[in-house]
Amino acid sequence: MMTFKTRIMKEKLESYFNNKYMFTLCFVISVINLSAQKVTIPIATDSNLILLQTDASNVLKTIYFGKPLENESEYPGVFDAYNFNDSNAGVYNGAYTPAGTWNLSEPAIQVKHADGNPSLELKYVSHQKEKVDNNATLTRILLKDPVYPFEVTLCYKVWAKENIIEQWTEIKHSEKKAVLLQKFASANLYFTNKDFYLTSFQGEYLKEMQPVESKLLQGIRTIDSKMGTRAMLLQTPNFILSFGKPASENQGTVMMGQLAWSGNFKMDYEIDSYKNLRLIAGINPFASEYSLQPNQVFKTPALLYALSNNGTGEASRNLHDWARKYRLLDGQGERLTLLNNWEATYFDFDEDKISALFKDAKDLGVDMFLLDDGWFGNKHPRNNDDAGLGDWQENVKKLPHGLGHLVKEAKKEGVKFGIWIEPEMVNPRSELYEKHQDWVIRQPQRPEVYFRNQMVLDLSNPEVQDFVFGIVDNLFTKNPELAFIKWDCNAVIYNAYSAYLNKKGIPQSNLYIDYVKGLYKVLERIRAKYPKVPMMLCSGGGGRGDYEFLKYFTEFWPSDDTEPVERIFLQWDYSYFFPAIATDNHVTDWGKQPIKFRIDVASMGKLGFDIVASHLNEKDKLFCKEAIANYNSFKNIVWHGDLYRLVNPHENDISAVMYVNPEKSKSVVFNYLVNNRYKLTATQRPVVLDGLNPKKKYTVKEINLYPGTTSTIASDKVYTGDFLMKVGINPNVTLQRTSVILEINEVN
Ligand code: DGJ
Repeated sequence: MMTFKTRIMKEKLESYFNNKYMFTLCFVISVINLSAQKVTIPIATDSNLILLQTDASNVLKTIYFGKPLENESEYPGVFDAYNFNDSNAGVYNGAYTPAGTWNLSEPAIQVKHADGNPSLELKYVSHQKEKVDNNATLTRILLKDPVYPFEVTLCYKVWAKENIIEQWTEIKHSEKKAVLLQKFASANLYFTNKDFYLTSFQGEYLKEMQPVESKLLQGIRTIDSKMGTRAMLLQTPNFILSFGKPASENQGTVMMGQLAWSGNFKMDYEIDSYKNLRLIAGINPFASEYSLQPNQVFKTPALLYALSNNGTGEASRNLHDWARKYRLLDGQGERLTLLNNWEATYFDFDEDKISALFKDAKDLGVDMFLLDDGWFGNKHPRNNDDAGLGDWQENVKKLPHGLGHLVKEAKKEGVKFGIWIEPEMVNPRSELYEKHQDWVIRQPQRPEVYFRNQMVLDLSNPEVQDFVFGIVDNLFTKNPELAFIKWDCNAVIYNAYSAYLNKKGIPQSNLYIDYVKGLYKVLERIRAKYPKVPMMLCSGGGGRGDYEFLKYFTEFWPSDDTEPVERIFLQWDYSYFFPAIATDNHVTDWGKQPIKFRIDVASMGKLGFDIVASHLNEKDKLFCKEAIANYNSFKNIVWHGDLYRLVNPHENDISAVMYVNPEKSKSVVFNYLVNNRYKLTATQRPVVLDGLNPKKKYTVKEINLYPGTTSTIASDKVYTGDFLMKVGINPNVTLQRTSVILEINEVN
């Protein structure tokens, strides 16, 4: 039964919403709001709590972000503990800050209504919490503008056990014409701790994922990308926020995040006048005012974050677990070791040369051969990077019998066959360009600008989406036994302009976003038809790699820099965010390190080779075979186990990481020298292990020994987990033993 007071309020609200049906729904879900009390909404994981609360004028604020509170009854009073009560009070901590009305701080959303009015206010209407499964819940909070028929739903999907939150926003209106979205963040967070440290990861070709940590001080620190396609070329959407002190591996409260979007992104970290931190993250609004038609939903990408009160190590392990279980394609499955021909041949190959490499793949003992760039184009043969992109027919001179023949030949040798494509791109010297200039992103009145002699196809155009899907579909239709795809993307978007959007009367400022959405549509179609076939995401090295892409890809290529010492740093830095099973590491001829060092480093992820194996001397060949066999024996621990980063190469002369199986009965520890100076103290100290069971007993055995060498580690000695995790074990890394892999086995 409704009380009289409630009925009057209901009537008022009905006229306010001018929509009885909508109101009935809201009423059911959020009765509290009618009594004009403050509404407090908890977003809780096992070790973190966010509290959102409405204020006296029904605007939703963030009042708490921290460790869980034991008593729910104390939630509503949290903000009273803070004396943020000057004229800025309530301005900074909006849960989703609109622009154009009372709030003059950095907005999360800015719009121009159909009538040209630039003001927006968002008031809490209702919320609902839905159980997704035993671990995950989804909270949806509806906010509405009291004046315009414009609404925003804040969405928080929480995986309690892994302490992961995926947060996004859905924007909708029923105005008479399109509304221009000028800014549309995924998340608008607020933290009241003392002192904030941000680690951002800068990108660069051959120098991907360079971490820099700095204290956030006054003003806004922006990390963004305007590259269009290979978003991570200059900055990456990954970050670590550490509260109170710089981030460390096993202590302190950290938030490890990523904007899961494969295009332009922007993350603003702002210290306000209370010295609190505002974080506003989403698609980069740069040149991207988005025209939203009435009754369509604009769903922003998700800001994903892992939270831990025990440092970056725990946050990474949780993120890895989550990714393997819920996000990465086939995250709990297997992967194929491979031999790639890119650095072995570059564009210079033919059928015989490639067929000879199948034998190398078989001799090495890898699962697959991967044919890289250069196999296609006839009128404009792909003999260099300046021609042929877009013409996805086998080059008849190089491959007279086609790919089908190669797939069969590889099979005869007992190896699978995979292929490289770069389907989003076109060289101006191609038949595709000659036929379909209108499919290319280019300014019709300006000189073309090229990145690696190529341009980007316009994936906002459904015909182009069909074409790109068709490239993959044709390959599989003609060669059903094709086992793997490497999907490359080398160019950024220059001269952003779409002939298609122009023809359709859609604003050009939709292009950056519609491109990415078009790409996701293609990937959806590919996965609907070919759900499991492994695909590697590559982008002129590691220009791409985010958790939206990884719904469709089984793995990604972190960098063309395969120099193994560099790689130790790079793989360490990627490991904060991605599990080893997702990162492809190839052994190449880069650098001066011996083959053992190179294979040991590449074994810390998904192992591959890009060398001419037949050129190796006999001992190296023998070592490769043994190392691959060893890798096969421990790869499950690397792919599916828990990662412990033990010795940081950025701070030490050695580096060490270990992977432990879930039962804590088996582990692999990788140790490397990263500084060649004489007599380093770091090498005199033991490496303290982690993640074992202190009560269990273990032996430590060195594996991957180069033929003719012996280990300095006694493999019959028994240690307790307690000893190994307090005193440690010295891998005896020296100038003569620059890389040491230890296998730890439980003794029963
Ligand atoms: C860039 C990639 O990173 C390389 O591995 C290779 O596939 C080349 N493209 C081919 O053009």
